Amino acid sequence: MTSNLEEKIASGKAHAGVVGLGYVGLPLAVELAASGMRVTGIDVSQPKIDAVNEGRSYILDVPSERVAQLVKGGLLDASADFAVVAGLDTINVCVPTPLRKTREPDLSFVVDAVDSIIRHMRPGQLLILESTTYPGTTEEVVLPRLRAAGLEPGKDVEVAFSPERTDPGNKLFTPRQIPKVVGGITPAASAAARAL
Ligand SMILES: NC(=O)c1ccc[n+]([C@@H]2O[C@H](COP(=O)([O-])OP(=O)(O)OC[C@H]3O[C@@H](n4cnc5c(N)ncnc54)[C@H](O)[C@@H]3O)[C@@H](O)[C@H]2O)c1
Repeated sequence: MTSNLEEKIASGKAHAGVVGLGYVGLPLAVELAASGMRVTGIDVSQPKIDAVNEGRSYILDVPSERVAQLVKGGLLDASADFAVVAGLDTINVCVPTPLRKTREPDLSFVVDAVDSIIRHMRPGQLLILESTTYPGTTEEVVLPRLRAAGLEPGKDVEVAFSPERTDPGNKLFTPRQIPKVVGGITPAASAAARAL
């Protein structure tokens, strides 16, 4: 299953999904689409979905012309309906993790997003957590939810963590130039995430 997925990603034939189209998610969706992959963004904000589908950017580092060109070319679209997850090969989660008063990340957005995604996941997909969080989140928060839904991580679906390192406004180091750390729950998950 996974070598097929890695191959599909590497050949640009995978359909990628980005959940959370903010400072991290929109630039990521645009970069993936610009590489020639088909990309669907998902967000709970209808104004953001409308903006993307109308070719308008609301993020300083992403020019509207770039979004418009990718949307017009059929490479980028957006939806507020998580049912689109069923048609994706990869899903990157880029939702907020604001710090609580105790200085620990608030994982409620991650939990909400992951639960909404898992309802529509099927075997053969790769789920990547990008949100900033503490070590152990993938294993302690994401994996048990997949198992409860009857999807065995590393067997039915692959899972990886790849913390976002983007630096909005930085003209020298843009998302494409910033090296990323990728950690899969299996070597195959790491390979598929690395290919993406
Ligand atoms: N912005 C940065 O410079 C930066 C840099 C490195 C890491 N990060 C990390 O990346 C993650 C995302 O940050 P951001 O700055 O892009 O946040 P953001 O607030 O700009 O965007 C998050 C998006 O997620 C959407 N969202 C919230 N709950 C959702 C849900 N349940 N389902 C779908 N979409 C949902 C919001 O509507 C919003 O559009 C955070 O963990 C943050 O710490 C951010």
